[in-house]
Amino acid sequence: MTRHAALLGTGSALPKNRVTNAELAKRVDTSDEWIVERTGIRARYLAGEGETTASLATDAARKAIAAAGLEPSDIDLIILATATPDQTFPASATKVQAALGIDDCVAFDVGAVCSGFLYALSVAESMIRAGSATNALVIGAETFSRILDWDDRTTCVLFGDGAGAAVFGPADDGRGILATKLHADGRYNELLYVDGGPSTTGTVGKLRMRGQEVFRHAVGKLAAVLTEVLELAGMTAKDIDWVVPHQANARILDATARKLGLAPEKVVVTVDQHANTSAASVPLALDAAISDGRIKAGDIVVLEAMGGGFTWGASVLRY
Ligand code: UT7
Repeated sequence: MTRHAALLGTGSALPKNRVTNAELAKRVDTSDEWIVERTGIRARYLAGEGETTASLATDAARKAIAAAGLEPSDIDLIILATATPDQTFPASATKVQAALGIDDCVAFDVGAVCSGFLYALSVAESMIRAGSATNALVIGAETFSRILDWDDRTTCVLFGDGAGAAVFGPADDGRGILATKLHADGRYNELLYVDGGPSTTGTVGKLRMRGQEVFRHAVGKLAAVLTEVLELAGMTAKDIDWVVPHQANARILDATARKLGLAPEKVVVTVDQHANTSAASVPLALDAAISDGRIKAGDIVVLEAMGGGFTWGASVLRY
């Protein structure tokens, strides 16, 4: 049988500070009603002192490695998807490696913003299939609260911080990633971007988004890539047990599910509690649905995401 990259374990980590819409409305000109109606978000977690992308990533990674029944020393590849690294360089993945006490492995960051976990997973899968990695730790971790413009109510209410991690390893028993499809279209840079960077302004910059236009692209592109990836896997929407989408807006999740004729109960939703955590949102939602027993051994799970770039993609796996 073909060597697939099977999902062996997941873990997640959230900052201590949970902030409800009502609490946010005390310092931003907004309301719980507006945020819930337009996005489905009710609360988000915001990183405090000492909590960073790498520290959250490390917490999530420890749990994922334990859930996989492995030791940190069994990991030979770490890919961390993030747009908010601890430092411009070195890669935050190497901070995670050091914190986990792993002497030697391959470790690097991937930048594809909200699609980052899908991009990272695709690289890990290719390396496992090729035999150049055995046990891969794939993490999505972000502290977007640190690149938000807290005077811009059209963006600052939408995002949160957190980390999700997954360990993948080789399997030849039918489990594993069955198909992945990724896309990028750099012409849409100005619809969702950060207005700074080391090579341009020399500053970190703040997030800027033209929300309505991003929304329109998200629904169309996600429905299209889901159709593509199912075709690659030789499946139809009827074969799906669970969809674990990027959690940007409950209305995007509903619209995408409707377009594909998927029952809303099959869509894992965490946007209400986490808000949009960019690269962390898919692995956080995946961990939630595995931990509470919804996703069971043998289930067909579809992961999908879309974000800045634009980048977008989807993956089908048998758990
Ligand atoms: O993760 C990457 C992918 N990101 C996304 O997928 C995000 C996609 N976009 C969205 O989720 C939605 O477009 C938003 C949630 C960002 C905005 O929802 P919308 O229904 O498109 O609202 P809008 O931008 O058209 O704004 C409607 C109104 C405006 O007022 P006027 O001009 O109609 O008087 C805004 O000023 O809502 C106002 N508004 C707010 N009011 C209260 C915008 N932000 C807020 C706010 N609180 N936080």
